Amino acid sequence: MALAELVGGRSEEIALFDNATHAWNAAFYSVPLRPGDQILTGRAEYGSNVLAYWQAARHTGAEVVVVPNDEYGQLDLAALERLAGQRARLIGVSHVPTSGGLVQPAAEIGRIARACGALYLLDATQSAGQFPVDVDTVGCDMLTGTGRKFLRGPRGTGFLWVRTTALERLDPFVAEIGSATWDGRQGFTWAPGARRFATWEHSYVNVLGLGAAVRQALGLGLAEIGQRAIALGARLRDQLAELPGVTTHDLGRIRCAIVTAKIDGLGAEQAAEAVGRAGVNVSTTVPEDNPLDTQDRGIHPLIRFSPHYYNTEGEIDRATELMAELAS
Ligand SMILES: Cc1ncc(COP(=O)(O)O)c(C=O)c1O
Repeated sequence: MALAELVGGRSEEIALFDNATHAWNAAFYSVPLRPGDQILTGRAEYGSNVLAYWQAARHTGAEVVVVPNDEYGQLDLAALERLAGQRARLIGVSHVPTSGGLVQPAAEIGRIARACGALYLLDATQSAGQFPVDVDTVGCDMLTGTGRKFLRGPRGTGFLWVRTTALERLDPFVAEIGSATWDGRQGFTWAPGARRFATWEHSYVNVLGLGAAVRQALGLGLAEIGQRAIALGARLRDQLAELPGVTTHDLGRIRCAIVTAKIDGLGAEQAAEAVGRAGVNVSTTVPEDNPLDTQDRGIHPLIRFSPHYYNTEGEIDRATELMAELAS
């Protein structure tokens, strides 16, 4: 399966979903948690994931530990190492947050997860398809992604990869005829591999579309895609940072193609609409997308640009011109 190749795993380690949130939920809610167990996460964590951590803490008595950022605004590895002790059951991190160009040090986090024995769930929704993401390099146990973002696949698609050796440490959260097999009495056995996290029915037209998108990305080469997208992001970020009345807000030592910005005195929504009317597709990132980051910085909503490999330098410059006009 192309998705397995995309993340460097095996096909039986992949389960398909209708979005990344459901894929992530299937992984997260399958992690057995008891009172006193710890879930460690970073301050750039995706909003839905944060809500799920809080809900699970309420249900199980586990504790959510939010690791501070370092001076670059990425997850502080030294703090994680200090905090990840014997009670750490799960380290859950968004590789690239929804709210900016930060790339979390995923592989270094993986080394710490292995050292403390915690399961490691990487939310690769914004990174898969944007640049190479390899599960062995990262050292995660579970990884989730979506079709609709940098993979350029159909909306309504998502996927979960689960390392075979992690299966026995997880208790899949829904038994149904896709994920489990009736044993003829009053019990069941789990389906082999990652299928035990999935449901029976799928939108097969979307699955075909996702497969085509992933094969296209693999054909173009994720390294090449990443280089090009990140270079375009850097060009835009640098140009915007030079404009009077415009500020950029991407954290991190390593930054990707996502660029977030703000125009003095103009709401992000209004600015995004104006840029959109001129033919440049942008998005906004709002406080509830990233509650912990919002608590830290209080700067959202922001305009979010997500240039990809097919964009041209001319299009980037045009976006900068539009922002300059709006700021003047
Ligand atoms: C980091 C991150 N995780 C998860 C999601 C959810 O993806 P989906 O809409 O496919 O459920 C998003 C969407 O913006 C995201 O940015």
